[in-house]
Amino acid sequence: MKNLTQKFAVSAITAVCLALGTGAAMAQQSVEVLHWWTAGGEAAALNVLKGNLEKQGVKWNDMPVAGGSGEAAMTALRARVTSGNPPTASQMQGFDILDWGKQGLVADLNTLAQKGGWDKVVPPALQKFSKYNGKWIAAPVNIHSTNWVWANQVVLAKAGVTAEPKNWDEFIAAADKVQKAGFIAIAHGGQPWQDATLFENVAVATGGVDYYRKAFIELDGKTLASPTTEKVFQRMGQLRKLVDKDFSGRDWNVASGMVIGGKAGFQVMGDWAKGEFVNARQVPGKDFACFRFPGTQGIVTFNADQFVMFKLKDADKEAAQQKLANAILEPGFQSAFNVVKGSAPARTDVPDTAFDACGKKAIKDVAEASQAHTLVGSMAHGHAVPASIKNAFYDVITRHFNGQIDDKKAVAALASAARN
Ligand code: GAL
Repeated sequence: MKNLTQKFAVSAITAVCLALGTGAAMAQQSVEVLHWWTAGGEAAALNVLKGNLEKQGVKWNDMPVAGGSGEAAMTALRARVTSGNPPTASQMQGFDILDWGKQGLVADLNTLAQKGGWDKVVPPALQKFSKYNGKWIAAPVNIHSTNWVWANQVVLAKAGVTAEPKNWDEFIAAADKVQKAGFIAIAHGGQPWQDATLFENVAVATGGVDYYRKAFIELDGKTLASPTTEKVFQRMGQLRKLVDKDFSGRDWNVASGMVIGGKAGFQVMGDWAKGEFVNARQVPGKDFACFRFPGTQGIVTFNADQFVMFKLKDADKEAAQQKLANAILEPGFQSAFNVVKGSAPARTDVPDTAFDACGKKAIKDVAEASQAHTLVGSMAHGHAVPASIKNAFYDVITRHFNGQIDDKKAVAALASAARN
């Protein structure tokens, strides 16, 4: 008798489970994620996130919007939200996150953040962009930094560059050697955000971290209009002679490909470039070298990709959003993802064991810079000033790089852009 009751109970449970199972399959949880990770290394990193969610039964609907640094993606996002059809989540950075927070359209991640203890493990410099009015509204996935140089070791050896350049003069001398040996010295893509990435490297190398902070974060008029800024533009002019004639409009990953393929010696680019080298099965220390932009050692200009969830009136979708945010902060995921992406984890408690030499250096540099107060937001990537000023800066920097305005005019234009 007991046995029969047990049997009945078991089959009743099985029936309930099956019913639940079918129910769950009918209303499968899904996320639609807007992002700009379309280059080889970026897509490979994104696959780690997709795979993670799919394992949890969450279907991934992709909304990629190509275009480095995400300008096109942000335009597409605005269009989606304005038409009343926001995606479940979107990749975002810096001041853009705070802007969306102000509009009150994004979901509150505070309960999840508290449960996960995010406050304790995410560096304060990042939290500044993850919270609005003290509440978590974004899940940070990485810490990128923009002050890196990527070099082809074989090209350097052929050109007779035997040591890593440590300062401006050594860098120019090395680049000259590469050019004289018949290679392209610096692989560059002439798009405003890439010009600005180059510019912020030169600014930090020329004026140091205090100058950079005063000019490009605090927007101090005197500092912006100072002779140091003029020197930065002069140096941009020097770099202009070291890029090839076809630089205009080139995508950043195409420029990385020129270094990977042995056409060019150097690329000055954030560490998403490393994702391209890794994706091409290249190894640091053997095929390529990574080093801090000469003159910026000890300083890290960072940008962090974060995912912001939009308010939705659908319980299944909301549950999927929580799963997505939770997965992003999970330490094992942060390691797996950032190994592929080229960035450092957004959490300080992730071991560097799985990372290659450049990744280990990235993690160490971020920790040291954070202690030394030399971890500063990247202007080119939305972590220094709001988008309107950033775009006005882009405009001046690009016009100067293309020879449309001289150094002095560029200084004046930059200072006036900051006042608007
Ligand atoms: C940056 C972003 C990186 C990478 C890069 C090129 O702004 O933080 O993750 O995608 O743009 O698109």
